[in-house]
Amino acid sequence: MDWGLENRLSRIIKPDTGRTVMLAVDHGYFLGPTTGLENPKKTIEPLLPYADSLMLTRGVLRNSVSAKFAIPIVLRVSGGTSILSPELSNEGITTSIKEAIRLNVCAVALSIFVGSPYEQQTLLALSELVNQANEYGIAVLAVTAVGRDMARDAKYLSLCCRIAAELGAHFVKTYYCEDFKRVVDTCPVPVVIAGGKKIAEKDALQLAYNAVSNGASGVDMGRNIFQSDSPVGMIKAVRAIVHNQASVDEAYRIYEAEKQGKV
Ligand code: R5P
Repeated sequence: MDWGLENRLSRIIKPDTGRTVMLAVDHGYFLGPTTGLENPKKTIEPLLPYADSLMLTRGVLRNSVSAKFAIPIVLRVSGGTSILSPELSNEGITTSIKEAIRLNVCAVALSIFVGSPYEQQTLLALSELVNQANEYGIAVLAVTAVGRDMARDAKYLSLCCRIAAELGAHFVKTYYCEDFKRVVDTCPVPVVIAGGKKIAEKDALQLAYNAVSNGASGVDMGRNIFQSDSPVGMIKAVRAIVHNQASVDEAYRIYEAEKQGKV
């Protein structure tokens, strides 16, 4: 592997554990000021010391994150729709590689919408992004977006992840599902999971535990961290599971202790 690319990926997926805790705060690119991210700076700052990387758009990066904080950046570079759009899959590339380099990012991220009306457009955008990013040793994260009416099962998600890897993505973000091992085993690049909608803290920790136990290289989690009543408690608890082999109960105690101010 190209030295620069390997170095950038190693800053995200930590070589000592082979895993990562990515903090996803890119939701505003189509959701606007969603709950918990009304003031991104306020939300992000306390979490930075506990995240292995930050996934966000250039707008939030420039305006809400200090350039003096040396956190690896995964820059979302796809978009063009809003929650009000009739078809969310109608996305394109929003940010150039030149801009990504100027922002000193480790990876760029783009959503693919397999089985959706704009499937081809998003898959070709991924391929083009890989072509451009490869020139400079920047990693590409493919995000498998799931249409409203689609089943998030192993058959569908392994199709999405495998296509993303075949088109050149260096790592893939998808959803946890039953028989998740099949998704990981049939994808030749690292797979991380999204957290999805906010659920009870213990359930979110169980989700992270199940994912890494079944081969995920970590999490790229957003709402279940920043919408928690203790975001710092949650990210610390998720870290314990991902990097320190903590059980769900051990991790939950870390969350509770932080929440109760015992730390
Ligand atoms: C979609 O809006 C983004 O790609 C999010 O980064 C992704 O869904 C992960 O965030 P969450 O854990 O909130 O699902």
